[in-house]
Amino acid sequence: MRAVTRLLYEGKAKQVFATDERDVVRIHFKDDATALDGKKRGTIEGKGAVNARVSAVFFEYLAGRGVATHYLGMAGDRDLLARRVTIIPLEVVVRNVAAGSLAKRLGWEEGRPVAPPIVELYLKDDALGDPLINHYHVRALAVASDGERQRLEETALAVNGLLVPFLSRKGLRLIDFKLEFGRDAGGDILLADELSPDTCRLWDSDSGYRMDKDRFRRDLGGVADAYQEVLRRLEGGESDAVAGAGRGDPQAGSA
Ligand code: TMP
Ligand code: ASP
Repeated sequence: MRAVTRLLYEGKAKQVFATDERDVVRIHFKDDATALDGKKRGTIEGKGAVNARVSAVFFEYLAGRGVATHYLGMAGDRDLLARRVTIIPLEVVVRNVAAGSLAKRLGWEEGRPVAPPIVELYLKDDALGDPLINHYHVRALAVASDGERQRLEETALAVNGLLVPFLSRKGLRLIDFKLEFGRDAGGDILLADELSPDTCRLWDSDSGYRMDKDRFRRDLGGVADAYQEVLRRLEGGESDAVAGAGRGDPQAGSA
């Protein structure tokens, strides 16, 4: 039955529950949002359901194209069932267009194309504010072997290669995104966590309107509507009209 047995972990946006099946967890997506290392807090109406469903769409799409993921299915309207993994404490970020911390670090204007895509590694450590690290740090920290780290980077680039055209057909530009991976009971590495407007930057292809968590981080307004629109496009047909997006200055408030 996969009944929930106990809370294993509670994060800022999700709860992970054990189930009566040893290798299966139930991930519950909350409407809570935080930014700036937790200094900014709020809720985004309906976010949990959107992020669960968007993650399900992405995981199914990727699994169908050879990417090993933790995803097993949806449960209710805001929970996923997933294979139980031990998360590798690395955040793997892929960037196609300069934005956010990359734009800041290199003094690049947001929106400047990045070619070839950049892969970055961050150490998952809230107390340290998830610092940017490189291969040498990974080795010294011993959080993954050289071969594993290389596989994570290659998988992240493969995911990028699959999602850019998929999202483009939905009228969305994949600016950047963050992935996490975990090891299952057999030691296999699986794509884990979530893939959602919380963890990706998505801009409307025509107008550049931001349809992701930057609306919350930067107080741009229209947060819940943007999340709903992403889900609508992903679950709808190809290249729908730009309903709800395209209003106003695309880069408004991007400071
Ligand atoms: P950044 O530009 O702030 O470094 O973010 C890069 C990408 O990673 C962006 O798509 C948002 C995502 N991200 C997370 O999912 N979690 C985080 O804690 C941070 C900082 C970024
Ligand atoms: N993980 C960050 C925090 O909770 C949020 C973000 O910017 O995505 O502070």
